[in-house]
Amino acid sequence: MTSLLTGKVALVTGAAQGIGRATAERLADAGAHVLLADIDGGAAQATADGINATHPDAASGLAVDVRSEADTRAAVRTAIAQWGSLDVVVNNAGVTRDATLRRMTVEAWQAVFDVNLLGTMLMTQAAAEVLREQGSGSIVNVSSISGKVGLVGQTNYSAAKAGVVGFTKAAAKELAHRGVRVNAVQPGLVNTPMTSVLREDVLQQKLAEIPLGRAAEPHEVANVVLFLASDLASYMTGAVLEVTGGRFM
Ligand SMILES: NC(=O)c1ccc[n+]([C@@H]2O[C@H](COP(=O)([O-])OP(=O)(O)OC[C@H]3O[C@@H](n4cnc5c(N)ncnc54)[C@H](O)[C@@H]3O)[C@@H](O)[C@H]2O)c1
Repeated sequence: MTSLLTGKVALVTGAAQGIGRATAERLADAGAHVLLADIDGGAAQATADGINATHPDAASGLAVDVRSEADTRAAVRTAIAQWGSLDVVVNNAGVTRDATLRRMTVEAWQAVFDVNLLGTMLMTQAAAEVLREQGSGSIVNVSSISGKVGLVGQTNYSAAKAGVVGFTKAAAKELAHRGVRVNAVQPGLVNTPMTSVLREDVLQQKLAEIPLGRAAEPHEVANVVLFLASDLASYMTGAVLEVTGGRFM
């Protein structure tokens, strides 16, 4: 694993905690330099400091709001200024604002679309400017199994995460002839701060749906992101990989 991304430069959004943090750690384990972009720049830098403790100078943190065109472009410029190129982008930043359709507000709908879908488009657009000229690159978008099956209380999130799949496939077609691959992962239930707020009965109901019988740890999603990011997946583009322990297969 150590040599999969040697000499490569990666940018991971929402990297301060959870799946993004585990992904940044895995990419650094694989030899990459990693820019951890998060709306909480201090937390991103603290996570980067943790990575640097075992991989000196491999990581740095940056305050980035993926909803901002200026921020996403600045993030791409920062990665290149720091390490000379950009090879891997992981669009992981995401939020939920759960409510049943009866109670769904325009604010909750928009908030989820802005981070999960607009943010993914803006960062991909900014990175693609560089990757298509370079003639190589791998973009991995973090969707959700909610975007495949639709989950009660998540009309906004399910729609946005399904949107990430459509976006991934369209961008994959636009960028393939320039040597740039675009793929997605659809995690199921993962032990992160996002899911730590679930009510116990809701958690038990979800666990009962999972053939492997447990939630994923963040690094188990990160391993699949690493695979798609690396040349091991050199003939994959527009693919959507489920990382669900068999839930909703
Ligand atoms: N945890 C799960 O069970 C699960 C399942 C399927 C998909 N996902 C998806 O995986 C991704 C990561 O989820 P997680 O569970 O690690 O979440 P998390 O809430 O633990 O972490 C999300 C990170 O994104 C950052 N962020 C939020 N808004 C941002 C913005 N506008 N710009 C930049 N950064 C921003 C947060 O500060 C945080 O560090 C999300 O896209 C989520 O939808 C999670």
